[in-house]
Amino acid sequence: MNANSQHQPLAGKVAVITGAGRGIGRAIACAYAQAGAAVVCNARQEKELQETVALISQAGGTASLFAADVVDHAQMTALFQHAADRHGGVDIVLVNAGTAGESRKLHNSDPARWRETMEVNVIGAYHTVHAAIPHLQARGAGKIILTGSGSRHRPVPGMSAYACSKNALWMMTQVLAVELEEFNISVNELIPGPVKTAMTRFGEQTFPPQEWIKEPADVVPLAMFLATQADRGPTAQSYSLMRRA
Ligand SMILES: NC(=O)c1ccc[n+]([C@@H]2O[C@H](COP(=O)([O-])OP(=O)(O)OC[C@H]3O[C@@H](n4cnc5c(N)ncnc54)[C@H](OP(=O)(O)O)[C@@H]3O)[C@@H](O)[C@H]2O)c1
Repeated sequence: MNANSQHQPLAGKVAVITGAGRGIGRAIACAYAQAGAAVVCNARQEKELQETVALISQAGGTASLFAADVVDHAQMTALFQHAADRHGGVDIVLVNAGTAGESRKLHNSDPARWRETMEVNVIGAYHTVHAAIPHLQARGAGKIILTGSGSRHRPVPGMSAYACSKNALWMMTQVLAVELEEFNISVNELIPGPVKTAMTRFGEQTFPPQEWIKEPADVVPLAMFLATQADRGPTAQSYSLMRRA
C-alpha cells in the first residue's frame, strides 16, 4: 500500500449516495470524499444537498448533487447517468435514503403512510440498485452497501412498516450478492444502530437502554471498511454497530 492509498484509499473511485442531504448519508459522503472519491449526493431537498456538497468542497473534495426521489425509477436512472457523465462511472453505491414512517401500532396505522414507508425503503432501494447495476458492471467491479436496521430482527411496537421494509432490504442484499458475484460486485448490509439524526429525534426512547447512541460520524469507520474491501471481498454479509443483537 503506497502513501496515497493509505490516505486516500478511494482515490479514483466514484460513489453515489442516496439520502446524502443530512444525517448518516451526509457523514459518509464527507468521509468518502475525504478518502479521495468523487461523490454524487442524492436526496429530494436540493438545499440540504447543497450544504453537503459545500462541506465536501470546502474540505477540498469533489462532489456533485442530483436531487431525485428514489420512488421514481426514471429519476434514479437519471441519477446514475449523471454520475457517469459527470464523473466517468460508478464504483460504490450507498443505498441509504430511508424513512421511519409513522410510529403507530399496525391496527391504528394509516394505510397510505404504511405503504409510503415500504415504497421509499424497499421500492426505492430496488430502483436505486436496478439503475446502478449496469454502471457497476461496466467498471468490472463494484460495491453496493445497503443501510439496514437492527429493527429487522427486534420487534418494536409501532414500527411494523419500518421493520418489514428493513427485513426486505436484508433479503434483497443476500439475493443480489449471489446474483452479482460473477460481476465482482459485492453487496453488504450496514446496520448503524441508534444514531442521532432527524429520523430519530422523537424516537430515542424506543432504543434498548444498553444501546450505544451514536452521532452520524460514528458510522463512518464501518462505511469506510465496506467501501475499501477487495473486489472479491466479503459479500452477502451484515455488519452491525448495535451493541447487542
Ligand atoms: N438514525 C438511526 O438511528 C438509524 C438506525 C438504523 C438505520 N438507519 C437508516 O439510515 C438511513 C439514513 O437515516 P438517517 O437517520 O440519516 O435519517 P435522516 O437524517 O432523516 O436522512 C434521511 C435521508 O434520506 C433522504 N430521503 C428520504 N426519502 C427520500 C426519497 N424518497 N428519495 C430520496 N431521498 C430520500 C432524506 O432527504 P429528503 O427528505 O430531502 O429526500 C435524507 O437525506 C436510513 O435508511 C435509515 O433507515 C438509521
